[in-house]
This record gives sequence, C-alpha cells and structure tokens, in this order.
Amino acid sequence: MPPAVRDVLISRSYSRRFPPSFRLLTLAAFVAAGILLVLSPAVLFCQSSGTVDARAGGVADRSLDARVESILKQMTLEEKVGQLVQYSAGQPTGPGTGRSDYEDMIARGQIGSLFNVVDPHQINSYQHIAVEKSRLHIPLLFGLDVIHGFKTEFPIPLGLASTWDPSIVEKASRVAAMEASADGIRWTFSPMVDIARDARWGRMAEGAGEDTLLGSAMAAAYVKGYQGPRLDAPDSIAACAKHYVGYGAAEAGRDYNSTEISEHTLRQFYLPPFHAAVDAGAASVMSAFNSLNGVPSTANPFTLKQILRKEWGFRGLVVSDWDAVGELIPHGIAADGAAAARKAFLAGVDMDMVSSAYHDHLQHIVSSGQATQEELDEAVRHVLRVKLALGLFEHPFVDEAAAPKALFHPESLAVAQAAAERSFVLLKNDASPAGKPLLPFDGTLHKVAAVGPLGDDPSYPNGAPPAAGPRPALPAVLAQRLGEGNVSRFKGTGILDGTDADIAAAVQGAQKADLVILTLGEDPGMSGEAASRANLGLPGRQQELLEAIVHTGKPVVLVLFSGRPLTVPWAFEHVSAVIAAWFPGSAAAPALVRTLFGDANPSGRLVVSWPRSVGQEPLYYNALHTGRPPDDIDLTRPPSDIVTKYVSRYMDEQNSPQFPFGYGGSYTSFTYGATALSTRQLSADALNRSLKAEAGTAMTAEADVTNSGSRSGEEVVQLYIQLRGTSTAQPVRALKGFQRIALAPGEKRRVRFELKPEAFAIWNDHNQFAAEPAQLKIWISPDSAHGSPAEAEILP
Ligand code: NOJ
Repeated sequence: MPPAVRDVLISRSYSRRFPPSFRLLTLAAFVAAGILLVLSPAVLFCQSSGTVDARAGGVADRSLDARVESILKQMTLEEKVGQLVQYSAGQPTGPGTGRSDYEDMIARGQIGSLFNVVDPHQINSYQHIAVEKSRLHIPLLFGLDVIHGFKTEFPIPLGLASTWDPSIVEKASRVAAMEASADGIRWTFSPMVDIARDARWGRMAEGAGEDTLLGSAMAAAYVKGYQGPRLDAPDSIAACAKHYVGYGAAEAGRDYNSTEISEHTLRQFYLPPFHAAVDAGAASVMSAFNSLNGVPSTANPFTLKQILRKEWGFRGLVVSDWDAVGELIPHGIAADGAAAARKAFLAGVDMDMVSSAYHDHLQHIVSSGQATQEELDEAVRHVLRVKLALGLFEHPFVDEAAAPKALFHPESLAVAQAAAERSFVLLKNDASPAGKPLLPFDGTLHKVAAVGPLGDDPSYPNGAPPAAGPRPALPAVLAQRLGEGNVSRFKGTGILDGTDADIAAAVQGAQKADLVILTLGEDPGMSGEAASRANLGLPGRQQELLEAIVHTGKPVVLVLFSGRPLTVPWAFEHVSAVIAAWFPGSAAAPALVRTLFGDANPSGRLVVSWPRSVGQEPLYYNALHTGRPPDDIDLTRPPSDIVTKYVSRYMDEQNSPQFPFGYGGSYTSFTYGATALSTRQLSADALNRSLKAEAGTAMTAEADVTNSGSRSGEEVVQLYIQLRGTSTAQPVRALKGFQRIALAPGEKRRVRFELKPEAFAIWNDHNQFAAEPAQLKIWISPDSAHGSPAEAEILP
C-alpha cells in the first residue's frame, strides 16, 4: 500500500490514541464477552493449529517487502550492522555493559534499538537523533519488559494464566499496549511462554505454568492483545515470545542452568506455545540463555533456522536475551567475542541485546566472508520489517503531553480487578466448627485482624516495582467494608525477618478479633529472574507467625502471595481457608475483599501442580507413563511391603501433589455427569489425512455440568485425554480443551468439546507429528486428577 494511502487509513482509524468511544467500546466488549462466555457451547481451545490470521498489518504482511528492499539497497555495511545492535539505556535488567555513548552511536546509525528507557521525553530525544541526524533516518525501536501491565498492573502472568481465561489476558495486554505505547515504547519482551515444571525456578511466575495447551492459548492471547488488529496502530506494540527455547527446563530449577530435552519432549511440550505465538503474528522471538542438549539456544541453528524459520515460516525478528551472545564465551563454545558473534549470527540471531559483539565484530565477519552479504541482509530485513509494520517511519515520535492521559483509565483498572478476581485459587475452605465454610464472610463478622507482612504495603501484593496510581491497601479496603474501628493491623513479621515482640503483638491483636486474615508469602523479588529457591516453604519467621496465630483458636483465612506454589503442608492441615493470590496487581485489595465477602466467587484454577515438598520437583501432571506406575499406592502402605516397593514412588513422600493441576475451589459446588463421545472409534489414517488438510472435527465429547450449590459461580471445565499403545510413551493425562462457564444455582449445562485431529497427534518414533493406533481415554473433569473417563480407540 503506498504510504500516502496508508497514512490516511492510519489517521482515520487510529489518529487519536483514545477516542471518546473507547469507554463505550470497552464496556460493549465486556458485555459481549460475558454473553459469549455464558452462552457459547463451543470449544474455546483445542490444539493450536495456526488458525489465527495475523497476516495483514503484521510482520508477515508481504506488502511491506518493497519498502524493506528499497531501504536495504541504500544501506552501508556499518548501517546494516547498526540495525542489529541493541543497548539498554536505562535501569539495567542484567549485568551492565559499561557503555553510554548512545547518542553518538545513534547519529552514526550504529544502533537499531534501545530499551529500558521509559521517559517519553528521553525516548523522543533519542528518536530525534536517529530520525534527524543519522544518514538514512531510520527510527529506533524502543523496547521494555512490559510483562503484566505497564502502569496499571495486572496479576503476574502465572496469576493471569490461573484465570484460564484468554479473553481477559488479551484485554490486559491491550491495556498494557495502550499505556506503554503512549510513552513511546513499541516493543515488549513478553509473553514469556516457557513451560515451567519446576517451582524452584523463579521465572515460573512470568509464564503460564506447566501445560502446553493452556500455555499456547495464553501465548496467542498476549500477542493479540499487545499487537491489536494492526501493528501500525499507534497503540499497538510488538510482542516477543521468549525464551526460545527450553529455558523453563533449567536443571534443578536453577536459573540460567543447562537443559536436556529430547526432541520428542521439545516438540510435544516446549515448542507449541512458541508456535502459537508465531501463528498469532508475534513480531519477535527472544533466543534464550540456556544451552539445549549441549548447544546454547542463542547459537542453535536447529531451533532458530530449521524450526522457527523453515518449519513455521517466521518472518519477524529474533533478538538475543541480555548479553546471551557474549555469554557464548562462558558457555564454552566461543573463544572470544568475534567467535560468539559469528556463531550467534550464523545460527539465526538477528539482534544482539547489549553484548556489543555484533557492533564490534559483525562488519569484519561479513567483509571477511565468514558470513555472506545475503545473510546480513536477511537479518536486517527482519528488523526493518518490524519497524515498518509498526508504522515507526511514519510516526517515530510520541506525544509527550498525552502520555500520562493513557494511564489508569477506570476501564483499565476494571480489567485489572476482574483479572485479579479470576486469578485467585481457593485451595481450601473447610467447614468451621459451626458447620459452614469460613468463606465467604457472612454478616455476623465484626472485628478482623489483618496480620502478616504482605497485608498493607501496597507495593508488595503487586509483584512489581511500585508505580504511581491507585493501589489501595488491604486494611483500608477492609475498613471501608467493616468500619474503621473494626479492622486492626499487625505486621507480625517481616517477609525475611521478624522479632518476638512483633509476633507477640500480632497474637494479642488476633485474640481480640473475630477472625484473622493472615497474609503470608514471598517478597516479589523472590520470584522472577535469578530467583531460584531450593526451599519452597514460607521464608523468614512466617511459619512461626502462622502457628502462633492458628494456636489462638481464632478462625484464620490464609492468603498466600507468591510467584510459585509454596510448600506449606502445616497450613493446609491446620488452617481452614487458604487462597493462592499470586501477586494480583493494582487491584489486589478490592479484588481480595470482594472475594472474601463473596461478591466475587473464586474461579481461578491451578496452572502448576502444587507440591507437598520440594523433593517432588519437577512435578507436573502430564508426566509420561512409566514401566512401574505406582497407581494409587501411597505412604499409607508400609514401604516394607514387597508388592508396593518396586514402583516409581518416594519412600518418604506421596507421589501426588498437594493440589493437582487444574484444581481450584468455589463457594458453590459443581457436579459432573458421564463423559459421552460422538464415536468410540477413530481411524489413524483418517486423522492423519485431516491433519494435513488442517480440517474438521474428529470427535465431540460432552458432559453435563451442574451447579449443585447455592451460589452462582464459574467453573473451568477441562478435557483430558490419555493414549496407550503408541510408539512413544504419552502423558498419563493431557489437557486438550477447556471452557469457562457460568452457572446459576441448580443450573445444568451440557458442555461440548470439539476435538480436532491434532488433539490425538503425538510426536512419534519417526520424528513426526501423527496419529497412531491407540487405546483412548477421555475425561471431562474439574481438574487433572478426578473424574471417570470414557473409552474409545484409534484403529489403523
Ligand atoms: C533478561 C531476561 O531473561 C529477559 O526476559 C528480559 O526480557 C531481558 N533481560 C531484558 O530485560
């Protein structure tokens, strides 16, 4: 499309960042989504199959190619290399580079992208240099880790995934894109789509947990939200699927550690969320720090060229993780910076984040023939394509005066609150001695003590550095509800430290209250990057505080704030109500209070298996069958029992998690009818033919789900399959579909899943995705550990 015509389109549709109709549209979208959610019997997600058409207005849009070529033709070797160089020009998010001569470098065309600059004035001033002083006037691309909101904060990604609601994730990322782009940031290093099976790994907090199908659905939702309908809308930002690939499988859960992942496991479990992000139009992918089967991911042509480019047809940009090119030296596969640059570049990394290895060596690598001109041009094309797709050439600057107006819209905060409410997982809600569950609170409640280190500082429950804006504290919101004099506040301990006196004061305070809300958990800095933990219990003296408060005999609701599941078996035994709140974001307090008082009914479901003890890690529901399955044997049987001894089990711990993947309670109850299948026989040949044609529904599965309690509630109905008799061992259960439905008390709904051929395909012993003859079990169930399966078979 000629620039002039496109400019007209741009200015017509997107000239004002926040048109007055925005509020109305948001409201309408909410209502429409709600109606769809309630009414639609259709499947929300089956296997990702590249159904999202993000071609127009994205990096796959071929209409940009002529402009890319015309710019490329004018570029010198130095300018081409410059487009592949990126530095952090603000708060470092990794070890520093010691470089600060960015202004001169930009003027010489030696920098393609800067990140970690958040001040719009600073962004504009760098951009003026690029656009006005550099020879070809190529704009810079500004990036940032916008991972769960920009200023309006949403729950951390693990919490967002616990909503099992891709539509709310898409809305949250749309808000994040609007706020960040208003500041001049047009590229986010998000979503993190790494599968995380080990809670010791702190970055579990940043992703969607352990499941491939759910992770793929979330990956696509983030991309759609960030990038909007077209990348060149001024309020769209380019997404970056990271960390490609296998980073979440860090051995022993230790960040940056090596990974060993068979091709079977890689293809079937770790790669699909990246593929889903690419299919959804993700403009960029970040190569990871870790080595994968001995080859660092930032120098891995098999994953970067063969899979990403050739098999998936990715046309966007590959950026390395922070200094990951330079780190090929400590990895031991490059003797020096030149070798590191050559290996990363030839493997398919387009842009060098921070290390300077491309800046220092790539010109020589190309001029000496170690890499070809064509290889260099191809990498530069990827960068220019993203810049052109974003419309940066037409609109390089940001309106500094307008930037603050994009923040904290009431509609944005409403999305944050809805997301937080749906992210809470009710882990336990036992009947009190009075015979009814502790939650939700009823009208008889007068005096509450809010005890614990995570209860009042509003920066803590939000899981990110404090931002200005509305972030009410929990005691204040409780006081609005119960009256000022009825809420007392005791820290009890710090997160990592504490004094006897503080614990004693909290105990005294608890004794005077009708009920205690105990807010315990991790400091936000204890999860995320470089935050692996070998112990997953409550840090500091919090366990002591917990026991002291419970021993007062007062009813206790425990709210856990964390970036991962915590091993707190004592709490699960002795506290009658426990909520996993993750880090809920800007609306943490109102969302929690609404949940505690029953205005919101908890509907979050675990996206990671909750361990009983750290020794069970890595722990994930979709483990492969073994030759010695423990079946239902657990520690209630003596280890000396010869029949039970020689099976895959621990001698001193159960195999099962504390709470299974998919689990979460509600203030109402749901009952499931039998799973009914449209057919009991499938044909592998027919499935494989349909797989190639990307066609059709192979089977439908249905079950009645009834709200058998007395409150309205939302249930996440899950569909799992199991295959036996295949050429490669398959998971004991694998999620193949899910639907979030709302049911009134007594209401029954027939929930129907349409299973596509991909749902039955596996990575087989011929290194192909295909369906094979197998015995099949299918569960429609509330989580990964319950329900009774229907049986079928796949014939040849
Ligand atoms: C390192 C992290 O691994 C990555 O996720 C992040 O995007 C970069 N630093 C930039 O901050």
